[in-house]
Amino acid sequence: MLTFQQIKENKQIHEFIRRSAIYLKEIDYNDHGFRHVGIVSDRAGKIARTLKFNKQATESVKIAGYCHDMGNFLGRSFHHYWGAMLFHQLFGGESSIGQTADIMQAIVAHDKEEVKIMNKIAAVIIIADKSDVHRSRVLSKKIDKIRADIHDRVNYAVVDNHLILDSKKKIIKLSLTIDQKFVEVMDYFEIFTQRMIYCRSSVKYLGYKFSLEINKFKLS
Ligand SMILES: [Fe+2]
Ligand SMILES: [Fe+2]
Repeated sequence: MLTFQQIKENKQIHEFIRRSAIYLKEIDYNDHGFRHVGIVSDRAGKIARTLKFNKQATESVKIAGYCHDMGNFLGRSFHHYWGAMLFHQLFGGESSIGQTADIMQAIVAHDKEEVKIMNKIAAVIIIADKSDVHRSRVLSKKIDKIRADIHDRVNYAVVDNHLILDSKKKIIKLSLTIDQKFVEVMDYFEIFTQRMIYCRSSVKYLGYKFSLEINKFKLS
């Protein structure tokens, strides 16, 4: 079994994530580096524990969370495929092929427009990735630049972000606090409706109900 610790200590993975962060900063994207993959991996682990995944599946979601954006340094458009292929090149040994294949599918699924979720590892990664919207993701320091870019503006507006897991009621709730001085709630929808639909279908795949709350206002 591959463990999260093994992946974190792997020098090649570390270098791929480091380069991906630099590449995306260079082309004016928001954070996809160690901050983002750390959050996705932690959140994925938290979901796995709540849903009582077994040891291997729990390690797998943390691994997929950590590795999901590492293909970006080879180009943004197909980064989900590059990431999955790199993962296979590093860990495609016979002993862990089932686990490797699950992780590859999860890495690919996180950024596909039309997705068929094929395993629970993928469902967890989609929720953990798409829910990472927060001021700390914005890399630009210039307020005019932030205001001009809708992705930056929407991320910057989010000052609080909590993913609340309720195993009794079987609900996964994303609760956001938006600074409305910075962004209209409509702006948020323009960018995030697709993402939230994606989250909702992943939550449903896991047998839970998705709930979204913005400034204490329940939207779903
Ligand atoms: Fe991605
Ligand atoms: Fe991501």
